[in-house]
Amino acid sequence: MNVKVYKDAQAIGEAAASIFAGQVIAKPDSILGLATGSSPIPTYTRLIELHKQGILDFSQVTTFNLDEYLGLTHDHPQSYYYFMQENLFQGINVPQENIHVPCGTAQDIDNEGKNYDNMIAQAGGIDVQILGIGNNGHIAFNEPCDEFPMGTHKVALTQSTIEANTRFFENSDEVPRYAISMGIGSIMKARQIILVATGAAKAQAVYGMVKGPVTPQCPASVLQLHPNVTVFADEAAASLL
Ligand code: F6R
Repeated sequence: MNVKVYKDAQAIGEAAASIFAGQVIAKPDSILGLATGSSPIPTYTRLIELHKQGILDFSQVTTFNLDEYLGLTHDHPQSYYYFMQENLFQGINVPQENIHVPCGTAQDIDNEGKNYDNMIAQAGGIDVQILGIGNNGHIAFNEPCDEFPMGTHKVALTQSTIEANTRFFENSDEVPRYAISMGIGSIMKARQIILVATGAAKAQAVYGMVKGPVTPQCPASVLQLHPNVTVFADEAAASLL
């Protein structure tokens, strides 16, 4: 695991975006794995800039997002589908039909999960996956637990995640209690992974991910077993390393 420390979120965004940019330039029909939350926003802002400057063309790119809240429709402002439209897709030229976000309103979530993993496999697998990390060490919505979940599946959010995500809602009661999330197995299949972490609240989780034992109690620690992971952290997030 390669750890790179930068001065702030903007510098991290530029560095992480350059990984995606290199990927898309080398392989215009790349399969990109995307995340929501605060962490990837500077990366997405930079990708939009590079597209507007004529440097990046996303017309052949396919995207797969990590996760979605259960029960929120695409037009719900807090749905991850909506977030992606607002923060990335509206600013680049990826065709709408190439965009995939797990469906949080599917009747049969188990089936939706299986189909989602099959779609990723049929597309050829993810070339580069961006991740954030939860204060509790989660990646996507894989919360600390006793066993690493493999495929895309339904998850119950922990209290810690509900509290962390309340900032996007009116109050904590509005935060959905369940989500659909790519599993650890789905994430580990990506050929390259970049993880972005900023702020002191992430320091313990970053320490567990990089230096702790590989355990589902800190889901991000599994990334120690992946051959191509780069962590982009600011000084506060890297302060315990
Ligand atoms: C989002 C996701 C989550 C976030 C994590 C960090 O798609 O999968 O694992 O990456 O909760 O969120 P932020 O970046 O808001 O601190």
